[in-house]
Amino acid sequence: MPDRVWWPVRGTDGLYRIYDRTQQPRAWLKAVYLPGIPLITQIDDGTVAPTGPADGAFTSSISSPSVVIELLRHLAPEPGQKTLEIGTGTGYTTALLTHRTGDTNVTTIEIDPRLAHHAQTRLHALGLHPHLITGDGEQGHPPNAPYDRILATASVRTIPPAWIDQLRPGGLLLVPLDSPFGHDLLLRLEADGHGQAHGRFIAPVEFMRTRAQRTPRSHVGLGWPPDASPDQWQYLHVTVGPAGQHIHHHASAP
Ligand SMILES: C[S@@+](CC[C@H](N)C(=O)[O-])C[C@H]1O[C@@H](n2cnc3c(N)ncnc32)[C@H](O)[C@@H]1O
Repeated sequence: MPDRVWWPVRGTDGLYRIYDRTQQPRAWLKAVYLPGIPLITQIDDGTVAPTGPADGAFTSSISSPSVVIELLRHLAPEPGQKTLEIGTGTGYTTALLTHRTGDTNVTTIEIDPRLAHHAQTRLHALGLHPHLITGDGEQGHPPNAPYDRILATASVRTIPPAWIDQLRPGGLLLVPLDSPFGHDLLLRLEADGHGQAHGRFIAPVEFMRTRAQRTPRSHVGLGWPPDASPDQWQYLHVTVGPAGQHIHHHASAP
């Protein structure tokens, strides 16, 4: 956790207040361990210095402990499994994945060089040495593929084909997908070994988009059914493959 983080809710002055570990160690620690609150670690791609209350778009955060536990519960990585994480951020999820599956089995990609550097420093200080890549996670990392597990901690509007290509048959991809319902939906896909992956949505979530997918697009153009209804997301089934992503109604909830 960085020494200075922003609280994700605006104060009465309209700004996001900052917690400084050196100036308010108890308040900082309490904020860090609150189960349900993500803390903001970067605003406007790092152009805003973490020196005081600020405004702007959130571009990196540390997910709340409860969300990270949910992600890892559904990802269910086993010791020895090769895992790819997209969005290293602070390195917190990377540390847990590495602890679980083993140092050499985790590859993590962060697009922001400064965030990647800080994550490396923290992970090495813990004696953890996953493969740390600075670059565009939408391309995956072919040299270490195939992966048993892929976890995206940034959301997408459309699933990058590289993630499906780099999954082992039977491998799992967990990714927050933008939806027409005003929030993301956590999606769990399983690779079928024939170039496609299939799955269902698990829960409503809120994540930051990957950098290249920040611009809104038509949901129908992204494979959503035109009549998708917000209280029916449990009935949707997703297929991703060479023909793109298709989301369609399924007769039953999981
Ligand atoms: C919610 S944060 C990740 C939280 C992180 N897993 C943690 O435990 O601290 C999302 C991260 O994804 C990164 N990101 C955005 N687009 C990306 C891309 N195309 N490739 C890799 N990382 C990306 C952002 O810079 C940001 O750090």
